[in-house]
Amino acid sequence: MKVANLDERIHVLDNSSNVMTVINEIAESGLQEEAFYVLDVGDIVKKHQIWKELLPRVEPFYAVKCNDSLTVLEVLASLGTGFDCASKGEISKVLSIGVDPSRIIFANPAKPASHIRHAAAVGVDITTVDNESELHKLKKIHPNAKVVIRIRCDAEVAQCPLGMKFGCDPNYEAPNLLRLSRMLDLDVVGISFHVGSGCQDPPVFYRAIRHARTLFDLSKDLGFKPYLVDIGGGYPGDTGTSIAKIAEVINSAIDEFFNTDDVQIIAEPGRFFVASAFTLATAIHSKRSVRNDKMSPNSVTNNMYYINDGVYGSFNCILYDHQHVVPTPLKNGCGKLIPSSIWGPTCDGLDQVVENVLLHDMDLGDWIIFKNMGAYTLPVASPFNGFPIPKVHVVVDENIWLLLKDLLPLTDDHFVIGNTPANLQLGLDIGGTKVDDWTNPPMGLSTSGIIGEPTQSSPFIYEYAEVEPIN
Ligand SMILES: Cc1ncc(COP(=O)(O)O)c(C=O)c1O
Repeated sequence: MKVANLDERIHVLDNSSNVMTVINEIAESGLQEEAFYVLDVGDIVKKHQIWKELLPRVEPFYAVKCNDSLTVLEVLASLGTGFDCASKGEISKVLSIGVDPSRIIFANPAKPASHIRHAAAVGVDITTVDNESELHKLKKIHPNAKVVIRIRCDAEVAQCPLGMKFGCDPNYEAPNLLRLSRMLDLDVVGISFHVGSGCQDPPVFYRAIRHARTLFDLSKDLGFKPYLVDIGGGYPGDTGTSIAKIAEVINSAIDEFFNTDDVQIIAEPGRFFVASAFTLATAIHSKRSVRNDKMSPNSVTNNMYYINDGVYGSFNCILYDHQHVVPTPLKNGCGKLIPSSIWGPTCDGLDQVVENVLLHDMDLGDWIIFKNMGAYTLPVASPFNGFPIPKVHVVVDENIWLLLKDLLPLTDDHFVIGNTPANLQLGLDIGGTKVDDWTNPPMGLSTSGIIGEPTQSSPFIYEYAEVEPIN
């Protein structure tokens, strides 16, 4: 058997399997050394159902930047969403799966000229603007663009505020941009905003939609025929979170300010669709048990675990997206809980995943699971220090497969039927290519084993040397 990259097809699971049984099976296969993700396609489909139910008038245009996995894009395209792209590369990726250019909004108010040229060439016309020079640029490079003026309206609390970078003042700057568009003979088709990613201030959507109404009226007065309101991103997506409150505010604002079918309302949700769909499995490859108690020099005061993904990989989300990640050991532990920290694999001291958490004692080779890892993780990850970016194992349950299998761009070729061990192990990742030479060594190494006499059966031989105390 040749073990190469994790198989990218969607594995159809029977009723007895789910994400955690798949992770267990892969972890215990002995054929997986590197960290890996399991992507549950059903989770994305359920999110789409929730969106349709709670926000029936708002068409989602998925923000590709959040997670540009091809499977995510294909599944969302099969469900009929549009796409928010920020660059030439994202536009090309979405077009490559057969999405019509009219289903893309180029939602970056500050675009390099070559990217605008590309958009014009492939027929992506709708784009956001928040400054004068961008309007002049569009006039030169893409005069047929459909301009959407992006205003600023910030949530009071957001995981990642965006207003300091994008969005013009709705009262002073936006009217001037409308007038300049008129002078340049550009076509303004609507208003957009982004209240901030991870918004915890639902009423902000009311304020922003009210601004959009005022600017709609002004643009009509100037002779435009606006038809689009883009209410941006900001919706939470972790398991256990809900968009119900935000949806309530949005729906009543739409009823109050845009109670007509002549206006198309779109949104650019990112993390809502993908956060909970991705679960990351990491393995402990090294461990340091610290003994800092002078009164009891043999007892462990805290454990430091080194895992095979860190802040330069998936956990960049801690630095850039201000995420709080929660470690869950795959095996139920026993014994006392020990203060522990979890570190990434690189040589950088900044590469810390969890600073302080109480965990049962774990061994080398044990797996730690992190749920809700789908948003702003993989697209930003780098292989710094030579550590690979985790691959993704994609699964779906039978019912969701039946729903999706005939919806383009998905085809029969996208799916592998039956979660036999052979199927689940397709393309597992041992960190090398020679599966026959690979055996996952018995890594069991208890804390007491380090301090006690090394035994014959231990896979590790330690030699202890007296050293001078370090001051
Ligand atoms: C223009 C734009 N649209 C949409 C999004 C997605 O936001 P979220 O993931 O909070 O839904 C972002 C995120 O930064 C963005 O910059």
